[in-house]
Amino acid sequence: MKKLVAYYSLTGNTKKVAEAIYEVLPEPKSLTPLTEVQNVDDFDLIFIGFPVHSHSLPYKVEAFLKNLPSGKKIALFMTHGSIPGTRLSMEAMEQALVLSGGNKVLGSFSCRGKVSPQALEVLGKSPEHELWTEMAVTAASHPDRHDLEDAKTFARLVMLEANQ
Ligand SMILES: Cc1cc2nc3c(=O)[nH]c(=O)nc-3n(C[C@H](O)[C@H](O)[C@H](O)COP(=O)(O)O)c2cc1C
Repeated sequence: MKKLVAYYSLTGNTKKVAEAIYEVLPEPKSLTPLTEVQNVDDFDLIFIGFPVHSHSLPYKVEAFLKNLPSGKKIALFMTHGSIPGTRLSMEAMEQALVLSGGNKVLGSFSCRGKVSPQALEVLGKSPEHELWTEMAVTAASHPDRHDLEDAKTFARLVMLEANQ
């Protein structure tokens, strides 16, 4: 089974999680920024990672999901500044799940990701970002080693599902 870990990451948090997932996958496997993926048809199982941007999916991730051929086995992972379980962090994953409707989603994983103090200061001034930027202060140490261990366990579980 050929595996692809495709990630979209502007400041490196989602990339760290992607690398942790990639590390525990057996060969054959590939790790590629989502914008550089050539041909998804080459792969049987695709992990797709993204950050939450303005409560939703970054546009490029939305386009990638919309263009996926149906019937693929996929797994989704996400990083976000807001507190886990709040609507602010869940909406983007829900959106990704809806867009993945034609595919077999074997699992999803999310953890927090830090936002630079400079970005927090600028974004926090806009009413649209006020709520999550308040929460994001406590995301400053994430993804931490526990998040990365959890991501590895998630990847192993997805592999078990994929092999069934
Ligand atoms: C422009 C921008 C908008 C963001 N919007 C949200 C948001 O709506 N909700 C949230 O929880 N986090 C938000 N974040 C925080 C990111 O989701 C978080 O820092 C993520 O880990 C970044 O991943 P990356 O380093 O892979 O790009 C935003 C970050 C940026 C830069």
